[in-house]
Amino acid sequence: MIEINDFSFKYQNSHETAISGLSLEIADGDFIGITGTSGAGKTTLTFALNGIIPQKIKGDFYGRILIDGKDTIEHEAEEFALSVGEVFQDIDSQMVASIVEDEVLFGLENFGIPHEEIGVRFEKVLNELGISDLRDREISSLSGGQKQKVAIASILALEPKYIVLDEPTGELDPESSRDIFNLLKKLNEEKGVTVVIVEQKIMLLCEYVKHLLVLDKGEKVFYGTADDMVGAIDKFKTIGINVPRVAELSSRLIEAGIYHGQVTLTVDDAEKMVKEIITE
Ligand SMILES: Nc1ncnc2c1ncn2[C@@H]1O[C@H](COP(=O)(O)OP(=O)(O)OP(=O)(O)O)[C@@H](O)[C@H]1O
Ligand SMILES: [Mg+2]
Repeated sequence: MIEINDFSFKYQNSHETAISGLSLEIADGDFIGITGTSGAGKTTLTFALNGIIPQKIKGDFYGRILIDGKDTIEHEAEEFALSVGEVFQDIDSQMVASIVEDEVLFGLENFGIPHEEIGVRFEKVLNELGISDLRDREISSLSGGQKQKVAIASILALEPKYIVLDEPTGELDPESSRDIFNLLKKLNEEKGVTVVIVEQKIMLLCEYVKHLLVLDKGEKVFYGTADDMVGAIDKFKTIGINVPRVAELSSRLIEAGIYHGQVTLTVDDAEKMVKEIITE
Protein backbone atom coordinates (compact mmCIF):
# COMPACT_ATOMS: atom_id res chain seq x y z
CA MET A 1 0.00 0.00 0.00
CA ILE A 2 1.12 3.56 -0.67
CA GLU A 3 -0.10 6.00 1.99
CA ILE A 4 -0.04 9.69 1.25
CA ASN A 5 -0.61 11.81 4.34
CA ASP A 6 -1.27 15.53 4.05
CA PHE A 7 1.43 15.84 1.40
CA SER A 8 2.50 19.25 0.09
CA PHE A 9 5.44 20.10 -2.11
CA LYS A 10 6.97 23.27 -3.49
CA TYR A 11 9.89 23.03 -5.95
CA GLN A 12 13.06 24.71 -4.75
CA ASN A 13 13.08 27.33 -7.50
CA SER A 14 9.35 28.00 -7.49
CA HIS A 15 7.07 30.29 -5.51
CA GLU A 16 3.94 28.25 -6.02
CA THR A 17 3.01 25.05 -4.22
CA ALA A 18 2.81 22.19 -6.74
CA ILE A 19 0.79 19.87 -4.47
CA SER A 20 -1.20 21.02 -1.43
CA GLY A 21 -2.41 18.91 1.47
CA LEU A 22 -3.04 15.72 -0.46
CA SER A 23 -4.11 12.60 1.42
CA LEU A 24 -4.75 9.37 -0.44
CA GLU A 25 -4.37 5.64 0.05
CA ILE A 26 -3.37 3.49 -2.88
CA ALA A 27 -4.33 -0.04 -1.92
CA ASP A 28 -2.61 -3.09 -3.34
CA GLY A 29 -4.43 -4.18 -6.48
CA ASP A 30 -5.96 -0.77 -7.14
CA PHE A 31 -6.10 0.80 -10.61
CA ILE A 32 -6.08 4.58 -10.21
CA GLY A 33 -6.42 7.13 -12.97
CA ILE A 34 -5.16 10.66 -12.43
CA THR A 35 -6.34 13.53 -14.56
CA GLY A 36 -6.34 17.31 -14.43
CA THR A 37 -5.32 20.25 -16.59
CA SER A 38 -1.72 21.23 -17.30
CA GLY A 39 0.18 22.25 -14.18
CA ALA A 40 -2.33 20.54 -11.87
CA GLY A 41 0.46 18.59 -10.15
CA LYS A 42 0.04 15.16 -11.77
CA THR A 43 3.71 14.63 -12.60
CA THR A 44 4.76 16.02 -9.23
CA LEU A 45 2.56 13.43 -7.52
CA THR A 46 4.01 10.58 -9.61
CA PHE A 47 7.54 11.64 -8.61
CA ALA A 48 6.48 11.51 -4.97
CA LEU A 49 5.14 7.95 -5.32
CA ASN A 50 8.61 6.48 -5.77
CA GLY A 51 10.76 8.78 -3.66
CA ILE A 52 12.23 10.79 -6.57
CA ILE A 53 10.59 13.65 -4.66
CA PRO A 54 12.14 14.40 -2.11
CA GLN A 55 15.27 12.28 -2.69
CA LYS A 56 16.33 13.48 -6.16
CA ILE A 57 14.20 16.56 -6.73
CA LYS A 58 14.53 18.99 -3.87
CA GLY A 59 12.05 21.43 -2.44
CA ASP A 60 9.84 22.05 0.58
CA PHE A 61 8.24 18.72 1.45
CA TYR A 62 5.46 18.50 4.04
CA GLY A 63 3.53 15.47 5.24
CA ARG A 64 4.46 11.82 4.85
CA ILE A 65 4.44 9.24 2.10
CA LEU A 66 4.84 5.59 3.04
CA ILE A 67 5.51 2.90 0.46
CA ASP A 68 4.72 -0.43 2.09
CA GLY A 69 5.41 1.26 5.41
CA LYS A 70 8.73 2.82 4.34
CA ASP A 71 8.92 6.60 4.64
CA THR A 72 10.19 8.22 1.42
CA ILE A 73 11.96 10.90 3.46
CA GLU A 74 14.06 8.30 5.25
CA HIS A 75 14.91 5.95 2.37
CA GLU A 76 16.88 6.48 -0.83
CA ALA A 77 14.89 6.52 -4.10
CA GLU A 78 16.92 3.49 -5.27
CA GLU A 79 15.28 1.41 -2.55
CA PHE A 80 11.90 1.93 -4.21
CA ALA A 81 13.05 1.65 -7.81
CA LEU A 82 12.20 -2.02 -8.19
CA SER A 83 8.86 -1.99 -6.35
CA VAL A 84 7.53 1.23 -7.92
CA GLY A 85 8.30 1.35 -11.64
CA GLU A 86 7.59 4.62 -13.41
CA VAL A 87 7.16 5.39 -17.08
CA PHE A 88 8.04 9.08 -17.26
CA GLN A 89 6.08 11.70 -19.16
CA ASP A 90 9.39 12.81 -20.66
CA ILE A 91 10.45 9.41 -22.00
CA ASP A 92 13.67 10.73 -23.50
CA SER A 93 14.89 11.41 -19.97
CA GLN A 94 14.20 7.78 -19.12
CA MET A 95 16.14 6.23 -22.04
CA VAL A 96 19.67 5.13 -21.22
CA ALA A 97 20.66 3.09 -24.30
CA SER A 98 20.72 3.76 -28.03
CA ILE A 99 19.35 0.38 -29.18
CA VAL A 100 15.91 -0.96 -28.16
CA GLU A 101 17.23 -4.34 -26.98
CA ASP A 102 19.86 -2.71 -24.73
CA GLU A 103 17.26 -0.35 -23.29
CA VAL A 104 14.96 -3.16 -22.17
CA LEU A 105 17.86 -5.34 -20.98
CA PHE A 106 19.48 -2.50 -19.03
CA GLY A 107 17.04 -2.55 -16.12
CA LEU A 108 16.87 -6.34 -16.04
CA GLU A 109 20.65 -6.61 -15.77
CA ASN A 110 21.06 -3.72 -13.36
CA PHE A 111 18.46 -4.93 -10.93
CA GLY A 112 20.09 -8.34 -10.70
CA ILE A 113 17.27 -10.36 -12.27
CA PRO A 114 18.50 -14.00 -12.51
CA HIS A 115 20.27 -14.59 -15.82
CA GLU A 116 18.01 -17.44 -16.96
CA GLU A 117 14.95 -15.26 -16.40
CA ILE A 118 16.18 -12.24 -18.34
CA GLY A 119 15.70 -13.79 -21.79
CA VAL A 120 12.23 -15.06 -20.94
CA ARG A 121 11.02 -11.70 -19.59
CA PHE A 122 12.60 -9.84 -22.51
CA GLU A 123 10.83 -11.91 -25.18
CA LYS A 124 7.54 -11.84 -23.27
CA VAL A 125 7.37 -8.10 -22.78
CA LEU A 126 8.35 -7.26 -26.37
CA ASN A 127 5.70 -9.66 -27.54
CA GLU A 128 3.03 -8.24 -25.21
CA LEU A 129 3.65 -4.74 -26.52
CA GLY A 130 3.90 -5.89 -30.13
CA ILE A 131 7.39 -4.48 -30.61
CA SER A 132 9.45 -7.65 -31.19
CA ASP A 133 10.41 -6.35 -34.62
CA LEU A 134 11.94 -3.20 -33.11
CA ARG A 135 14.58 -4.97 -30.98
CA ASP A 136 17.57 -4.01 -33.16
CA ARG A 137 16.40 -0.49 -33.97
CA GLU A 138 18.15 2.71 -32.91
CA ILE A 139 15.91 4.44 -30.38
CA SER A 140 16.54 7.80 -32.08
CA SER A 141 14.96 6.42 -35.28
CA LEU A 142 11.68 5.44 -33.59
CA SER A 143 8.39 7.33 -33.74
CA GLY A 144 7.06 8.88 -30.53
CA GLY A 145 4.56 6.06 -30.13
CA GLN A 146 7.18 3.35 -30.65
CA LYS A 147 9.42 5.03 -28.07
CA GLN A 148 6.54 5.06 -25.60
CA LYS A 149 6.07 1.33 -26.05
CA VAL A 150 9.80 0.71 -25.50
CA ALA A 151 9.71 2.81 -22.32
CA ILE A 152 6.69 0.87 -21.06
CA ALA A 153 8.35 -2.45 -21.97
CA SER A 154 11.50 -1.53 -20.01
CA ILE A 155 9.45 -0.91 -16.88
CA LEU A 156 7.05 -3.86 -17.25
CA ALA A 157 10.02 -6.21 -17.72
CA LEU A 158 11.05 -5.44 -14.13
CA GLU A 159 7.66 -6.70 -12.94
CA PRO A 160 7.24 -4.01 -10.28
CA LYS A 161 4.54 -4.31 -7.63
CA TYR A 162 3.34 -0.78 -8.45
CA ILE A 163 3.48 0.68 -11.91
CA VAL A 164 3.12 4.42 -12.37
CA LEU A 165 2.65 5.75 -15.90
CA ASP A 166 2.65 9.47 -16.66
CA GLU A 167 0.66 10.11 -19.85
CA PRO A 168 2.04 7.00 -21.58
CA THR A 169 -0.38 7.16 -24.50
CA GLY A 170 0.12 10.80 -25.55
CA GLU A 171 1.86 9.81 -28.78
CA LEU A 172 -0.22 6.71 -29.46
CA ASP A 173 -3.19 6.30 -31.79
CA PRO A 174 -6.53 5.28 -30.18
CA GLU A 175 -6.03 1.59 -30.95
CA SER A 176 -2.53 1.41 -29.46
CA SER A 177 -3.72 3.42 -26.44
CA ARG A 178 -6.41 0.86 -25.85
CA ASP A 179 -3.86 -1.97 -26.25
CA ILE A 180 -1.79 -0.42 -23.45
CA PHE A 181 -4.84 -0.08 -21.19
CA ASN A 182 -5.88 -3.68 -21.93
CA LEU A 183 -2.39 -4.90 -21.05
CA LEU A 184 -2.43 -2.92 -17.79
CA LYS A 185 -5.88 -4.27 -16.98
CA LYS A 186 -4.63 -7.82 -17.53
CA LEU A 187 -1.61 -7.25 -15.28
CA ASN A 188 -3.86 -5.69 -12.67
CA GLU A 189 -6.45 -8.47 -12.71
CA GLU A 190 -4.23 -11.49 -13.22
CA LYS A 191 -1.04 -10.51 -11.41
CA GLY A 192 -2.48 -8.05 -8.90
CA VAL A 193 -0.15 -5.27 -10.11
CA THR A 194 -1.22 -1.89 -8.73
CA VAL A 195 -1.56 0.63 -11.54
CA VAL A 196 -1.45 4.43 -11.28
CA ILE A 197 -1.85 6.14 -14.63
CA VAL A 198 -1.95 9.82 -15.57
CA GLU A 199 -4.10 10.29 -18.64
CA GLN A 200 -5.81 13.17 -20.42
CA LYS A 201 -8.31 10.98 -22.26
CA ILE A 202 -10.83 10.83 -19.46
CA MET A 203 -13.28 8.61 -21.30
CA LEU A 204 -10.68 5.92 -21.78
CA LEU A 205 -9.59 6.35 -18.18
CA CYS A 206 -13.09 5.97 -16.76
CA GLU A 207 -13.60 2.77 -18.68
CA TYR A 208 -10.64 1.04 -17.08
CA VAL A 209 -9.89 2.49 -13.65
CA LYS A 210 -11.25 1.48 -10.27
CA HIS A 211 -10.69 4.99 -8.87
CA LEU A 212 -10.31 8.37 -10.47
CA LEU A 213 -8.32 11.23 -8.93
CA VAL A 214 -8.78 14.71 -10.33
CA LEU A 215 -6.22 17.35 -9.42
CA ASP A 216 -6.56 21.06 -9.95
CA LYS A 217 -3.90 23.59 -8.97
CA GLY A 218 -2.24 21.00 -6.75
CA GLU A 219 -5.39 20.04 -4.90
CA LYS A 220 -7.56 16.95 -4.91
CA VAL A 221 -10.91 18.09 -6.30
CA PHE A 222 -12.37 14.63 -6.90
CA TYR A 223 -11.61 11.12 -5.84
CA GLY A 224 -13.96 8.23 -6.36
CA THR A 225 -15.31 5.68 -8.77
CA ALA A 226 -16.73 6.58 -12.16
CA ASP A 227 -20.19 6.31 -10.61
CA ASP A 228 -19.31 8.94 -8.04
CA MET A 229 -19.00 11.39 -10.94
CA VAL A 230 -22.74 12.03 -10.73
CA GLY A 231 -23.07 15.43 -9.13
CA ALA A 232 -19.46 16.37 -9.83
CA ILE A 233 -19.91 17.04 -13.53
CA ASP A 234 -20.31 20.80 -13.16
CA LYS A 235 -17.16 20.99 -11.05
CA PHE A 236 -15.23 19.05 -13.70
CA LYS A 237 -16.38 21.45 -16.39
CA THR A 238 -15.51 24.52 -14.30
CA ILE A 239 -11.90 23.41 -13.98
CA GLY A 240 -11.67 22.67 -17.69
CA ILE A 241 -11.90 18.88 -17.72
CA ASN A 242 -13.65 17.35 -20.67
CA VAL A 243 -16.26 15.02 -19.28
CA PRO A 244 -17.38 12.34 -21.74
CA ARG A 245 -20.70 13.42 -23.20
CA VAL A 246 -22.29 10.05 -22.49
CA ALA A 247 -21.19 10.36 -18.85
CA GLU A 248 -22.63 13.85 -18.61
CA LEU A 249 -25.91 12.81 -20.18
CA SER A 250 -26.37 9.84 -17.84
CA SER A 251 -25.34 11.88 -14.79
CA ARG A 252 -27.92 14.54 -15.57
CA LEU A 253 -30.62 11.91 -16.11
CA ILE A 254 -29.70 10.21 -12.81
CA GLU A 255 -29.72 13.56 -10.99
CA ALA A 256 -33.13 14.37 -12.48
CA GLY A 257 -34.48 11.03 -11.29
CA ILE A 258 -35.20 9.91 -14.84
CA TYR A 259 -32.62 7.12 -14.95
CA HIS A 260 -31.91 4.80 -12.05
CA GLY A 261 -28.85 2.96 -13.34
CA GLN A 262 -25.16 3.84 -13.31
CA VAL A 263 -23.15 6.50 -15.11
CA THR A 264 -22.59 5.37 -18.69
CA LEU A 265 -19.09 5.58 -20.11
CA THR A 266 -19.53 4.16 -23.57
CA VAL A 267 -21.86 4.99 -26.42
CA ASP A 268 -23.16 1.39 -26.30
CA ASP A 269 -24.11 1.74 -22.63
CA ALA A 270 -25.72 5.13 -23.30
CA GLU A 271 -27.80 3.54 -26.06
CA LYS A 272 -28.95 0.81 -23.66
CA MET A 273 -29.81 3.51 -21.11
CA VAL A 274 -31.94 5.45 -23.58
CA LYS A 275 -33.77 2.27 -24.65
CA GLU A 276 -34.41 1.40 -21.00
CA ILE A 277 -35.83 4.87 -20.28
CA ILE A 278 -38.06 4.78 -23.34
CA THR A 279 -39.48 1.34 -22.60
CA GLU A 280 -40.05 2.01 -18.89
N1 LIG B 1 11.17 21.17 -11.94
C1 LIG B 1 10.30 22.12 -11.57
N2 LIG B 1 10.71 23.26 -10.98
C2 LIG B 1 9.84 24.23 -10.60
N3 LIG B 1 8.51 24.14 -10.76
C3 LIG B 1 8.02 23.01 -11.33
C4 LIG B 1 8.88 21.95 -11.78
N4 LIG B 1 8.12 20.98 -12.30
C5 LIG B 1 6.84 21.40 -12.20
N5 LIG B 1 6.78 22.62 -11.61
C6 LIG B 1 5.55 23.38 -11.32
O1 LIG B 1 4.74 22.61 -10.45
C7 LIG B 1 3.36 22.69 -10.83
C8 LIG B 1 2.82 21.30 -11.13
O2 LIG B 1 3.51 20.80 -12.27
P1 LIG B 1 3.34 19.32 -12.81
O3 LIG B 1 4.40 19.10 -13.82
O4 LIG B 1 3.28 18.38 -11.66
O5 LIG B 1 1.90 19.41 -13.50
P2 LIG B 1 1.16 18.37 -14.47
O6 LIG B 1 -0.22 18.22 -13.96
O7 LIG B 1 1.97 17.14 -14.62
O8 LIG B 1 1.10 19.17 -15.86
P3 LIG B 1 1.14 18.61 -17.39
O9 LIG B 1 -0.28 18.17 -17.71
O10 LIG B 1 1.52 19.81 -18.19
O11 LIG B 1 2.12 17.50 -17.46
C9 LIG B 1 3.30 23.65 -12.01
O12 LIG B 1 2.99 24.92 -11.50
C10 LIG B 1 4.71 23.63 -12.56
O13 LIG B 1 5.04 24.84 -13.16
MG1 LIG C 1 2.84 16.18 -16.21
